[in-house]
Amino acid sequence: MYRRFAEGEVRGRSAVYEGLALGISEDPGVLALIDGLPVARRQPNLLLAAVRFLGGPVEDYPAFREWVTAHWPRLHTTMLERRTQTNEPGRCATLLPVLAGLPQPLALIEVGASAGLCLYPDRYRYRYDNLPPLGPADGPLLACRTAGPVPIPERPPSVVWRAGIDLNPLALTEPHGGSMEWLTP
Ligand SMILES: C[S@@+](CC[C@H](N)C(=O)[O-])C[C@H]1O[C@@H](n2cnc3c(N)ncnc32)[C@H](O)[C@@H]1O
Repeated sequence: MYRRFAEGEVRGRSAVYEGLALGISEDPGVLALIDGLPVARRQPNLLLAAVRFLGGPVEDYPAFREWVTAHWPRLHTTMLERRTQTNEPGRCATLLPVLAGLPQPLALIEVGASAGLCLYPDRYRYRYDNLPPLGPADGPLLACRTAGPVPIPERPPSVVWRAGIDLNPLALTEPHGGSMEWLTP
């Protein structure tokens, strides 16, 4: 699982995570600790996020390994308490043509919203291929490469109401130790 994560998911995106996951995949001692977790909690990104959340070193495998081994009880508890609840606002670039093509204005409900960052498709700025960007000038830019006949919208949708539903909704305004630190350690 850790080798697949290194080679298939983070290679070319995070050299640090790739190096750590490869190190773990060849380390029987650390793998034995991970094996003590329930199957659903053995995820590489959960372990790596928990180490960063707790302030462990991530730049060098031997230091990482030593820290993980020494702090395993705390790490274990964090991995049982927390979940990976990634938000991928980039998905808004693929939803935008559909949302913009519907009768306006829109009310949005997202099931599985996590912290709700995909509930703001009207607040991002989009650049499809080399076309001029659309969306608010101060919005975070989502660059998107297309293939095939994509109906590129002329303007963002008009959203007048939005709500998120989640088993464990995250609030980015929670104080220290809350969702913000977990999502962006
Ligand atoms: C990977 S996150 C995706 C967040 C967001 N939709 C996105 O695409 O960026 C999946 C979310 O679904 C939530 N979830 C999983 N099962 C659910 C259920 N049965 N009902 C409501 N939310 C659920 C999880 O708590 C998590 O926050």
